[in-house]
Amino acid sequence: MFLPIDHSAHASDLPRNCTFSEHDWRILSGFWHPVAFVHEVGKKPLAARLLDVDLVIWKTGAGVSVARDLCPHRGTRLSAGRVDGDQLICPMHGLHFNAAGQCTKIPSNPDQSARVSPRLRLQSLRVEERYGIVWTCLSDTPSWPLPDWPGIRDEALKKVFVPANTWAAAASRHVENFNDVAHFPWVHTATFGGSEDDRIPHYAVHETPSGLTFDLEYDEGGNRFPDDVPGDTRHVVYTYELTFPFSTIIIIRPNDSWYVQYFADTVCPVSAHETRIFQVATDTTGAPDETFLIKESLMINDEDKPLVENQHPEDLPLGIMDEVHIPADRMSVAYRRALVEKFGLGAPLSS
Ligand code: FES
Ligand SMILES: [Fe+2]
Repeated sequence: MFLPIDHSAHASDLPRNCTFSEHDWRILSGFWHPVAFVHEVGKKPLAARLLDVDLVIWKTGAGVSVARDLCPHRGTRLSAGRVDGDQLICPMHGLHFNAAGQCTKIPSNPDQSARVSPRLRLQSLRVEERYGIVWTCLSDTPSWPLPDWPGIRDEALKKVFVPANTWAAAASRHVENFNDVAHFPWVHTATFGGSEDDRIPHYAVHETPSGLTFDLEYDEGGNRFPDDVPGDTRHVVYTYELTFPFSTIIIIRPNDSWYVQYFADTVCPVSAHETRIFQVATDTTGAPDETFLIKESLMINDEDKPLVENQHPEDLPLGIMDEVHIPADRMSVAYRRALVEKFGLGAPLSS
């Protein structure tokens, strides 16, 4: 009912009802994470959640701003307010905040020329707009770079944005699934999965400055590429490039073709078991068929989603002996190992 008056000893930047261990939350809060597509941020402030922290996202002439979704006056959600010109306006008493988060106007003040306290400031976060995605970081000093995506960064190639979707699964579970080829013939039966009898050849996973990469040849069932190469199936080479912790691009090169598709996937860990998926694609036609690519991608995602949402345990096991691995799991094993060895994620809870 009442907050204790002397609550300084309990003050913490951890969100209420945090679903992560404090240890993992602190590490994950150092990374850039996607929170919205730029095109989703319109005339109204947008609500989002990252690592159990409620955020407000809004756009002014200065670009996109992100802050904790909390008015410093009486704790109202700013995402229920409005944007007027370059000001975000709280729905409760109308305090105005500029793009940097400073209060500039208190409408009820009898003396409108009175100085506004600098303490009336939003908890603003760092923002980057890249690849049509709004990225933010809960820490002032990001610990890892944003992904550098070939193809997607080429401004001459038109981008397709797959509508964002939320999965009831851990971000790391989604990433593992996205980097797993052995499930294609079993799960992607209505889209591009190949024969159940095809083998996954041995492949090597390499470290890059920001993550992991591997190449794999595969025989896709169907022919989904707009390059007029005939055939009911296509032999392709996939190049996967993962940027820690949750971003991956697949570069797809069908053989005997000039055609290359770039399909990027990055996810927001909304909470420990809820993940918002952002996907951006393009190809060397320079003008991909948006309707087809979105429909195809949503079908593929819908094939994965119910299986990933029901994997057990919900949290990705990071101990290498926790599950049994098959040869096709080289990427999965390298990913789990890196999350532990490079970043210290999944450390035992201290008592
Ligand atoms: S609670 Fe936001 S202006 Fe009062
Ligand atoms: Fe899949």
